[in-house]
Amino acid sequence: MERPRRLRINSGIRRLVREVTLEPKNMVWPLFVHRGSEPEEIASMPGQLRHSMSSLVEAAAKAAELGLGGVMVFGVLPQEEKNSVGSGAYDEHGLVQEAIRLIKQRVPQLTVMADTCLCEYTDHGHCGIVSGETVDNDATLELLAKTAVSQAAAGADIVAPSAMMDGQVGAIRNALDQAGFANVPILSYAVKFASAFYGPFRDAADSAPSFGDRNSYQMDPAAGYWDALREAEIDDREGADILMVKPALPYIDILPKLKERFNKPLAAYHVSGEFAMIKAAAANGWVDEKRLALESLTALRRAGAQFVLTYYAPEAAAWLAQ
Ligand code: PBG
Repeated sequence: MERPRRLRINSGIRRLVREVTLEPKNMVWPLFVHRGSEPEEIASMPGQLRHSMSSLVEAAAKAAELGLGGVMVFGVLPQEEKNSVGSGAYDEHGLVQEAIRLIKQRVPQLTVMADTCLCEYTDHGHCGIVSGETVDNDATLELLAKTAVSQAAAGADIVAPSAMMDGQVGAIRNALDQAGFANVPILSYAVKFASAFYGPFRDAADSAPSFGDRNSYQMDPAAGYWDALREAEIDDREGADILMVKPALPYIDILPKLKERFNKPLAAYHVSGEFAMIKAAAANGWVDEKRLALESLTALRRAGAQFVLTYYAPEAAAWLAQ
């Protein structure tokens, strides 16, 4: 008889035959920074904060100490600083730019990524410039390129376009090269779905669209593999260095497809709603939080993600160290 159980018989043997690993370097921690002098809790994301500059530096130091793969910085702008063109996104001395400068100054060894998008900076909450009821793709490209250059100039090690505008990776690559940042890699949110799993993030960043939705630029969950592969192919061709799938677990089937096809590292974004669901179930005593979080992240590693953006990064790293 075939006895697969032989290789599960004790922890030593299980460890010996295990091929999927999850280490702190495989996790990147998304961090929010706001204008306030005190950090603020985010109700729908227990344990995560809208950081002040000083609590942000503390979080960055903790990330480095835990050996995380890096952090991704998101700015949360007060309403009165937002405008129709999202100029806060590409202000040389904007919130995120100053936050990145400070982290790189205090915790230079930490890899800092910047989310390159306009939705946290526009008064209408869309990821690009709005003309009538639609988002003007080509007019937005120039602003995304300026945003990426300003982030690189502030010291970002990696820029991560997430606006889902056609041509954004190429436009950003060109602009970075011309500005002397040929060595700054692009982590592209290549396969990004229009998802209800972003709900808590939009609370955290106050970035929900004030009218309409993101369905004309983010991907249709039911489109099928052709759309995922097409998006990844375009970004690959335009010079993305790392390809990301987002959300993570509902779209885990996309990762192996990309792994087969592209000779580039892959990432997955375990998004706010995925995090919030585990937290909520755990708070009710319905699941074992530690096991569920580590199991989810390990599954993403198995599917092909080199690293996972996850709000669980610091907790998971601490659990792994136990
Ligand atoms: C910006 C952006 C979003 C997220 C990451 N970058 C929001 C959105 O597209 O609405 C969501 C991340 C999360 O839910 O954790 N465009």
